[in-house]
Amino acid sequence: MENYCLTAPRYEEMGYRRCGASGLLLPEVSLGFWHNFGSDDDYDVCKAIVHYAFDHGVTYFDLANNYGPPYGSAEETFGRIYTESLRSHRDELIIASKAGHDMWPGPYGEWSSRKNLMASLDQSLRRMKLDYVDIFYSHRPDFQTPLEETMEALVDIVRQGKALYVGISKYPAEMTARAYDYLTLRHVRCLVYQGRYNMINREPETDILPQCKERGVGYVAFSPLAQGLLTDRYLNGVPEGSRMTKSRFLRPEALTDELLLKLRRLNEMAARRGQTLAEMALAWCLRRPEVTSVIVGASSVAQLAKNLEARKNTTFTPNEEATILALLRFDDLLPPP
Ligand SMILES: NC(=O)c1ccc[n+]([C@@H]2O[C@H](COP(=O)([O-])OP(=O)(O)OC[C@H]3O[C@@H](n4cnc5c(N)ncnc54)[C@H](OP(=O)(O)O)[C@@H]3O)[C@@H](O)[C@H]2O)c1
Repeated sequence: MENYCLTAPRYEEMGYRRCGASGLLLPEVSLGFWHNFGSDDDYDVCKAIVHYAFDHGVTYFDLANNYGPPYGSAEETFGRIYTESLRSHRDELIIASKAGHDMWPGPYGEWSSRKNLMASLDQSLRRMKLDYVDIFYSHRPDFQTPLEETMEALVDIVRQGKALYVGISKYPAEMTARAYDYLTLRHVRCLVYQGRYNMINREPETDILPQCKERGVGYVAFSPLAQGLLTDRYLNGVPEGSRMTKSRFLRPEALTDELLLKLRRLNEMAARRGQTLAEMALAWCLRRPEVTSVIVGASSVAQLAKNLEARKNTTFTPNEEATILALLRFDDLLPPP
């Protein structure tokens, strides 16, 4: 099985952007493992998606301790694929994990104490069959744990060689600034901020994106397709097996009649641009130079293949920009539970 997928001229097809002021380049489109890679999912499909991704220049795979379901199983799936076919390409891959959300029972199984981060990363490395991750994230802000404790754990993780770089996710801007300061003081600069950014949720434009630019930190956008809403997936009903039928994170109530009308108009605009709605939504995120990469989810090779096309046109006319801004508002999207 070794080298089974590794025939493509992969690096010619993908664009790579510098992650902030670091030395690291990330692919414009990355692959996330939040959904579709658990032990309940078809392993052959998971493997085909990962192989297709790598064959087309996707070098960044985004995982976390609790991705599945069940928790941990996406990392196990990745570990199996890695062992079967990617191990000899370790130095061509950026593999990330995270800790901070609920993972195991008891007081140490979530949030961001030193105890949680250290134990969680050791578990993740075992599941993924890795000696180190490339990026380790603090997955969410923890307002009970002193920020210094969390950041010092990240520093020590780098010093121990268990992660090459560190990142933070979903922190509010003021706490982010303090995190950056602490890490800089300890000579482990924050590589990357990971946050939700898409046509519906433009919040990062007001604070986090400018802050990333000012501080030389990369920005990677998660849920750039609003979990599938910004695609043709739901334009003609809710398909069986779609995320809306399976996941508590995307509820049917999110798809209001008003939103559906707007999505149909956006779909028409995308067609005029020669893109699918998904491609246009990803291109829209990538139009911002602060965005290093969009992390997409995909339940099939076909979806990923279409998403990779987004890179081909990331320019928007002022008229298109204005139409998108006028159509979609943050409150179009119900907050996830
Ligand atoms: N840091 C954090 O707290 C955080 C939070 C959320 C996510 N993330 C990261 O970001 C990654 C991406 O998040 P996400 O899965 O919500 O991303 P997304 O790209 O917004 O949504 C992915 C879903 O959209 C649908 N889709 C994708 N491509 C499509 C296409 N071309 N046509 C039609 N439908 C398409 C699929 O739904 P179906 O499954 O219905 O086919 C897919 O599962 C995660 O895997 C994770 O790595 C991080």
